Amino acid sequence: MLQVKGITKKFGGVAALNSVSFDVGKGEVFAIIGPNGSGKTTLFNVVAGFHKPDGGSISFEGKDITGWQPFRVAQAGIARSFQNTRPFPDLTTLDNVVVGALTRHRNIREARSKAEEVMATVGLGGAAGMQAKNLSIQDRKRLEVAKAIATSPRLLLLDEPMAGLTGEEIPDFVSLIKRLNESGMTILLIEHVLYAITKVADRLMVMDNGNKLAEGAPGDIMNDSRVLKAYIGEDDA
Ligand SMILES: Nc1ncnc2c1ncn2[C@@H]1O[C@H](COP(=O)(O)OP(=O)(O)O)[C@@H](O)[C@H]1O
Ligand SMILES: [Mg+2]
Repeated sequence: MLQVKGITKKFGGVAALNSVSFDVGKGEVFAIIGPNGSGKTTLFNVVAGFHKPDGGSISFEGKDITGWQPFRVAQAGIARSFQNTRPFPDLTTLDNVVVGALTRHRNIREARSKAEEVMATVGLGGAAGMQAKNLSIQDRKRLEVAKAIATSPRLLLLDEPMAGLTGEEIPDFVSLIKRLNESGMTILLIEHVLYAITKVADRLMVMDNGNKLAEGAPGDIMNDSRVLKAYIGEDDA
């Protein structure tokens, strides 16, 4: 479904991504882990069209989408959530989701009905009328996902959707991701919460310093000595 080939992205002279390649199959949950600064968010920004790569190519459902603008990538069927949630703070939760839905549904009534459906899916129905700035962290995280899925994507990119959640809140979020996947969305998931990855990911890719370090089944990868070293390196720092 998604083929990323040899993507390189430099900021100044520094390579945030160094010839990174991977494929995601339709229906998969593909997770990406790696220490802070290893290039995970940059990879999402390149796939979603927020950054143009300096090299390499991206194809989605057989179309070359390399260098496309974000709105065009979104219309092709890819949505992304942001690591730092970005709601319109003074709008209600529902209206934030309507804004997302409007990228696909031109008609405001259709957008509103899509938004209501999405609010129920993510468990935000009760907070529809609340201003986004007053939401709890957990509900902000749900809203971030709701905005993305309101565009009816076939491929959903989630950037650390569970960061900041408590241990008790995580299983709920894991089951939300499972439900979205079962409803037909292919999911690319950046996540530090390893419990969540072992529960939902079909495959896992490890990034370190702009390079792809390893890829495989979560159980195998977590016992890989290179992976452990990348994480231990981070702890030392
Ligand atoms: N817009 C940008 N301008 C300059 N440097 C950036 C920008 N975005 C990311 N970087 C740098 O690229 C590297 C990878 O960052 P990032 O992709 O955010 O890592 P991660 O998401 O894995 O923590 C870091 O060194 C970061 O400082
Ligand atoms: Mg990041």
